[in-house]
Amino acid sequence: MTYLEIKALLQKHGQEHLLQFWDELSPEERDCLIEDIENLDLMEVTSYFTRAIKSNESKSLLDEKIQPIPDSSIESIKTVLPEQLQKYERLGLEEIAKGKAAIILMAGGQGTRLGVDYPKGMYNVGLPSNKTLFELQALRIKRLQHMARELFGDCAGIALYIMTSDATHETTLAYFKENDYFGLNENQVKAFKQSTLPCFTFDGKIILDDKHKIARAPDGNGGLYVALEKEGILSDMENRGINSVHVFSVDNILVKVADPVFIGYCLSRSADCAAKVVSKRSADEPVGVVCLVDGLFGVVEYSEISKTTSQLCNDKGTLVYNAGNICNHYFTTEFLNKIAKNYSKELDLHVAKKKIPFIDASGTKCKPSTSNGIKIEKFVFDVFKYSSKFAAWEVLREDEFSGLKNSDSAKEDCPTTARNHILDLHRRWLLKSGAKNVDGNVEISPLLSYAGENLVDIAKDKSFRGPLVLN
Ligand code: UD1
Repeated sequence: MTYLEIKALLQKHGQEHLLQFWDELSPEERDCLIEDIENLDLMEVTSYFTRAIKSNESKSLLDEKIQPIPDSSIESIKTVLPEQLQKYERLGLEEIAKGKAAIILMAGGQGTRLGVDYPKGMYNVGLPSNKTLFELQALRIKRLQHMARELFGDCAGIALYIMTSDATHETTLAYFKENDYFGLNENQVKAFKQSTLPCFTFDGKIILDDKHKIARAPDGNGGLYVALEKEGILSDMENRGINSVHVFSVDNILVKVADPVFIGYCLSRSADCAAKVVSKRSADEPVGVVCLVDGLFGVVEYSEISKTTSQLCNDKGTLVYNAGNICNHYFTTEFLNKIAKNYSKELDLHVAKKKIPFIDASGTKCKPSTSNGIKIEKFVFDVFKYSSKFAAWEVLREDEFSGLKNSDSAKEDCPTTARNHILDLHRRWLLKSGAKNVDGNVEISPLLSYAGENLVDIAKDKSFRGPLVLN
């Protein structure tokens, strides 16, 4: 497009300020800016702004609209019979052995709260082995493949798809490569980038990050569905014959990747979409809650219901809205295809007010100290309402969920709590396997045990003193 064509297009959408520094730009910078604008579907992104603001303004508390998950749609690891649990696990391992299970690791977030400038998956919480989140997860996959092979004689590799963003893509890829994919096959690991959306001022003007560059941010973890199609992941899944997909966030150090129990549970219920949940720590824990909204499954964030509703208890004294969302989901590939083809552009748009660096009218780069604009985000769980068979699976927080969200100064959901939670889990595994004593930091390699199995020979009647890594 020529300068004049671009100008006319921008004027049509009220965005002509993007050319305000045109006269000062070098030819290369001009090309850059034109390319940036050409790559925007201006009609679409400006309508996103209008839609996001409208839905944000009309948002009232959802108290009147919600109901807890019906008993028929949820089962708990606390009450399931051991034989049933074994059946689920076997079913899941069979799906894995047949090469029909895959993982989507969501790792496109910018890790702002943790305060690191590299992908969160590369974070080392200070375990005796110094393993990072990515490494722990990759090794759990290896162990699981081994378990499936032992049980069924053979196991096609579990495909690991990593959703990255502009901010995390190259570094993530390089990290896996440098580490030889932590023993996984290179063709088993695929990183794909989610899209970005421009950042807007509160009155709908796209923000300039530089005189020749638009400010952008990843489109939220619900950007997954557009990216799956756009980046060819759905067809890759089809070629590999995948049926079950376990999707989770990168920041849960305890995550049971491709959890065979969860997969088996979903298969046995013929669920097309499912969520793992944990009991909330307390009524005011800031996690989303899985429930029914207007009769359809969804997640309401802590801020969307009143304190009174979040504190409601049943006659056993348990919170009524207790199913804490841990960003850990199951989808069939059929469901993912349905969403990508029919609903990915309709997903709710959420507004996050942020401090967005910008170029002011004099051309100076500014870092605001208060929110000056919005990022528009889609959420991964906003597809639950399109499910024809939804299921929730309750697990134990101490075994399966410890989110790494903040730096240590927050004292919660931080590196220290993540480290303590995983070491506590490993200590409990050893004691359960017959160890006499476990003192200090004793870590178990994921290659040795995925979920506490395979430890009796090592642990029975032994005492352990950390720091120590059992490989
Ligand atoms: C998420 C859940 C919340 C839940 C909490 C539990 C969503 C929208 N919210 O909140 O209901 O209670 O986890 O820990 O799922 N990500 C991307 N691309 C993005 C943004 C995020 O890949 O554009 C990834 C992050 O890397 C992370 C995951 O999505 O792995 C969760 O994102 P985050 O923004 O940290 O969500 P929470 O606020 O923790």
